[in-house]
Amino acid sequence: MCTERYLAAEPLAGDMDDADALGPPAKMADRREELTPMLSQYLELCERYPDSLVLFQVGDFYETFCEAAELTARLLEITLTKREDSTGRYPMAGIPIDNAESYIETLLDAGYRVAVADQVQAPSETTGIVDRAVTRIVTPGTLTEDEFLDEGNNFVAALAPGGTRPEQAGAADGDDLTSAERGFAVLDVSTGDFYATGGDADAVRDEIDRFAPAEAIVAPGLDADAFDDGTMVTPFRPDAFAPDRAREQVARYFGDPESLLAGDAEIRACGALLAYAEYTRAGEADRLDYLNHLTRYDPREYLLLDAVALRSLELFERRALGGETDATLFGVVDETACALGARRLTDWLRRPLLDEGAIAARHDAVGELVGDVQVRERLHDELRDVYDIERLVSRVSRGRANARDLRSLGSTLDVVPAVRDALADAEAALLCELHDRLDPCEDVRSAIDDALVAEPPIELTEGGLIADGYDADLDELRATEREGKAWIDSLEADERERTGVDSLKVGFNQVHGYYIEVTNPNLDAVPDDYQRRQTLKNSERFVTPELKEREEEIVTAEERADELEYALFTDLRDAVAAETERLQAVADALATLDALCSFATVAAERDYCRPELGADRFEIEAGRHPVVERTQPSFVPNPTDLDRGTVAVVTGPNMAGKSTYMRQVALIQVLAQAGGFAPAASASLPVVDRVFTRVGASDDIAGGRSTFMVEMEELSTILRAATESSLVLLDEVGRGTSTADGFALARAVVEHVHDVVGATTLFATHHHELTATAESLPRGRNLHFAADGTSGGVSFSHELREGAAEASYGVEVARSAGVPDPVVSRAHELLDRGAVADAEESGSAGAEPGASDGSASASDGSADAPAVAPNGGVDEAVFDRLRRTDVANTTPLEALELLSELKAAMDE
Ligand SMILES: Nc1ncnc2c1ncn2[C@@H]1O[C@H](COP(=O)(O)OP(=O)(O)O)[C@@H](O)[C@H]1O
Ligand SMILES: [Mg+2]
Repeated sequence: MCTERYLAAEPLAGDMDDADALGPPAKMADRREELTPMLSQYLELCERYPDSLVLFQVGDFYETFCEAAELTARLLEITLTKREDSTGRYPMAGIPIDNAESYIETLLDAGYRVAVADQVQAPSETTGIVDRAVTRIVTPGTLTEDEFLDEGNNFVAALAPGGTRPEQAGAADGDDLTSAERGFAVLDVSTGDFYATGGDADAVRDEIDRFAPAEAIVAPGLDADAFDDGTMVTPFRPDAFAPDRAREQVARYFGDPESLLAGDAEIRACGALLAYAEYTRAGEADRLDYLNHLTRYDPREYLLLDAVALRSLELFERRALGGETDATLFGVVDETACALGARRLTDWLRRPLLDEGAIAARHDAVGELVGDVQVRERLHDELRDVYDIERLVSRVSRGRANARDLRSLGSTLDVVPAVRDALADAEAALLCELHDRLDPCEDVRSAIDDALVAEPPIELTEGGLIADGYDADLDELRATEREGKAWIDSLEADERERTGVDSLKVGFNQVHGYYIEVTNPNLDAVPDDYQRRQTLKNSERFVTPELKEREEEIVTAEERADELEYALFTDLRDAVAAETERLQAVADALATLDALCSFATVAAERDYCRPELGADRFEIEAGRHPVVERTQPSFVPNPTDLDRGTVAVVTGPNMAGKSTYMRQVALIQVLAQAGGFAPAASASLPVVDRVFTRVGASDDIAGGRSTFMVEMEELSTILRAATESSLVLLDEVGRGTSTADGFALARAVVEHVHDVVGATTLFATHHHELTATAESLPRGRNLHFAADGTSGGVSFSHELREGAAEASYGVEVARSAGVPDPVVSRAHELLDRGAVADAEESGSAGAEPGASDGSASASDGSADAPAVAPNGGVDEAVFDRLRRTDVANTTPLEALELLSELKAAMDE
């Protein structure tokens, strides 16, 4: 119901696209005095929710009027009709309530928020117009209806700056000492998952990328650029971010905010987010009771994967547009049995751990499950019967659950004893802890079981929910109903006997209720107590006083039973809601167990090993790329053997396997720190604080930045933020610019990473010259993938080898592609000469005029045909002359003369 708080809510700040179509329809507002009561009600709601599209219940439809109707009709491709009343004619567009969800989804996709105004009064309760109130505001980030959601989390976020604390109020020059501080909170309203963190703007941006919220609210004064295009930034009343307001709001839910959160910025973000969540649940309780866990974390406690890393390692999404999500890390390691587990696994991959003990605890549990097929399969089978109880519990708590939801909750609790049983002999500490934490909630389970029929209907007000024997009054009403119906059932036979009319029938219709029908030829036999009700063509319909009395009894009993059932149901729902925290604890334990089982299933079925973390070097035996090996049956495993701080330059021809290899190292690292096993024969690894990647040339043309610019931005992030504990992958950096530029950059990067940053780095490059750089650095290494050139061309073994690749692999690839022999041998020649030039440090430019000259003569000759003599004859004379020239003491005229002299010498 519409509480005063919402009535008092100030209008939202900010603008939306197409905003002129929202808010109070201007044409209507101009004629406020003349409006019918219904339209003024609509206008009022539009004024109260100016940033939302108001869907206004009229019977079985949600209607929109005037400008909003024109907009809705266009977006939803529904008919725009005209409504006519005392006010005049105006446009109207409506959608049937029964399948409103799919229409609402379209409105959300188009970037709108929708305020659903339901009739909150039965038409029978009023002589005037029915009361309507906004019962929920549907926004992309605060969805709770299953119809809108897949099993993953759907987050709404808040971003806030630090407040000026009293002791800082007088800071010198009015400096806000906390200006760099940001608080970030994310909430999944459908499940109650709630996280908060803070840090400087850069750190918080990385956390935003991790959670990729669907929607965000931003404190006044902060810009929304931190959110990418996938996030709808929503205006919300600025005062929700005020430190005092926010502090109070957090305290209402979690007690002392200071003991839970680190600093003002986080408190402001959490407080505002709670206010926003409540605002969108306008019709529900003032306080969302199921929000009773807030996880505050420090970004430094988790392996950091920024948006670039998440994307380029394809943890959750394919980089190629339209790619299926199966071919992602999550896709291949997700063998979870229920939605709870899938979300937990997502969170683990999104936030891999840094703490060796915590990582080992997961590995111990996974290892035990890998070793015991029976337990693992039993758990998996049981977990498949687990419903999404986080969402069920949130619906129960919000008073939105129906009887089927409670049944689903009950059958999930049925699973718990079996799961506990399967864990009875567990040895791994984490499994033992889960065993102990799994509370079967027997009281809740049996309350649901006792009260509800096995398969209750969705509708709550039409009876059929409550089991027989649960409530004496209900049983009595049902008995009355049954007896009445039995009496009516036997009435036909009784009356046939009494009247002697064999064709006499007892029937029922909605208008007249029960009746006795006698055909015209038998009307003589009708007894005195029959009262005529209806005349048909061939028959008459009658009632008797006793029939009417019985009928009344049945109807009254039915109505009272329906009401009683609804009351019993809501009592049950309230009783279950009171156990929210216990149920959430069960959900949490089942989620963790499912995620562990998933890691174990994958490890057992695909031959993953238990990684050892805390080592001082990266040692992987026969490592595989977890995703590529799924599609490439003949995948070639490769070793990794790197000291920390090594900068390894990886060379080799296109398609040899460089990118795959580098990503495989990173994915093994991420999986291992997430608590999973690794696709390798063995893996011993340090704990890394961050995985950085710059893989491939990702175009950001839509974002208006050049590929090269993007590349350099990403590179600069890496160079600034990487530490000695980071793992850095650089793939073809410097490709987006000229060769000279690109190589210079690549070399400078390698040197900087090696000398200053100290991060363990794999650098795949087509700049062959970089191998010399690696050679010259103490912690530099050269690795390569060979092109196994045979007489028939090139094939790739995909085997990683020590040292630098042959410089000529590109030529070999050309040969394999069918480039004619003369061209290939000519290319080899030029390559050799280039190498000579390099060795002399004279650059390769000098060879070029001769090269272009010679190629024409060699093009159709045999491979033996003489090419231009390397730097001999005329060329040498020209060079000599140039060497002798003192450019600083040459006048422009002399220079011109020299030029024509040289030209003449060449033409000889
Ligand atoms: N270790 C491997 N075993 C089998 N096939 C591989 C392996 N590594 C790569 N490939 C195959 O080779 C293709 C090219 O690999 P990629 O890593 O993109 O090469 P590069 O980066 O050297 O151009 C991949 O798409 C994959 O199909
Ligand atoms: Mg590549």
